[in-house]
Amino acid sequence: MKHLIDPTDLSREETDQIIDLACEIIENREAWQDKMAHRKLSTLFYEPSTRTRLSFTAAMMELGGNVLGFADAANSSVSKGETVQDTVRVVSSFVDVIAMRHYIEGAQLYASEVSPVPIINAGDGSHSHPTQTLTDLLTIRRELGHIDGITIGFCGDLRFGRTVHSLIKALARYKDIKVILIAPEALKLPDYIRHDVCDKMKIDYREVETMEEVMPELDILYMTRVQKERFLDEDEFDRVKDSFRLDLEKLSRAKSRMAVLHPLPRVNEILQEVDNDPRAAYFRQVENGKFVRMALIVKLLEWKDDPAHGMPQEDIPIYNPHAKCTNPKCICTSEAAPHKFRLSADGELRCWYCDAKVR
Ligand code: CP
Repeated sequence: MKHLIDPTDLSREETDQIIDLACEIIENREAWQDKMAHRKLSTLFYEPSTRTRLSFTAAMMELGGNVLGFADAANSSVSKGETVQDTVRVVSSFVDVIAMRHYIEGAQLYASEVSPVPIINAGDGSHSHPTQTLTDLLTIRRELGHIDGITIGFCGDLRFGRTVHSLIKALARYKDIKVILIAPEALKLPDYIRHDVCDKMKIDYREVETMEEVMPELDILYMTRVQKERFLDEDEFDRVKDSFRLDLEKLSRAKSRMAVLHPLPRVNEILQEVDNDPRAAYFRQVENGKFVRMALIVKLLEWKDDPAHGMPQEDIPIYNPHAKCTNPKCICTSEAAPHKFRLSADGELRCWYCDAKVR
């Protein structure tokens, strides 16, 4: 069975199949309106969302299926102490596929270990957001006509921005990608992405501190919000919260066909004056999210019983009862997940569920 927990759960070919299908759906929406008749999706959201939850809902409705779930776990039996795995065992007896968002990192991977239906990670803490990645890839394809060969600048909160981590992982499978990381020291990309993805996959990347110095080079400018909810120290957030502002003056130095992406919501990092510039692609990106989620639901259910589309088996888990994950927001800290690790590219043990270092 195929779950989507991390972008690398999909091969490059499978990713392209989903994006191709999304394009087919956009061209001929009526042909898909009954494809999921009598099928059900559950949306289990333990953390706030506008786009992801509603686009999953709209996607399943447009396919003729039904949706049930919760937008606030406090109104479910989670508030009585029900675990993630128990919740998934129960809900999976009602539905064909589950999309889950959780503030705890690794929650969906842990849930997938007991689920008889595909689990889709709709965002786990600051770790991963693979369906935003599919949205971003479809948007790049539609804006530029191709994904191979692009130069992309990631600007803002690269430390906690799960959409950045996931998109870099996915882009590592494409050809001749150049990545420019635009962030102050306090918001830099986590080590595990830098070493296990950028270095291991030989991504051409460099780090700068201002968007102005690289603007003319970019095909894609990927803006992000500084993720206030992930900071443990409010003073640290206050120091970096206004690090970047994209305005028309800065945009005037960009290529005429560059596209500005943002997973949204934005706070103050893109001024409203940019919205009417043809390069502002972030609202088109939102709509792409619905189409790509339609394609994903169709493909995951098509692949469910096909051994050719199982989960990748690249890492072998290492069990060590004496080692502990250092991430207080990991599922193995909040629930009784096993002490399970993998060996990273730089030879260190890392948590199986959240990629954090181990002590
Ligand atoms: N892009 C995104 O994940 O938005 P939401 O938090 O509104 O779902």
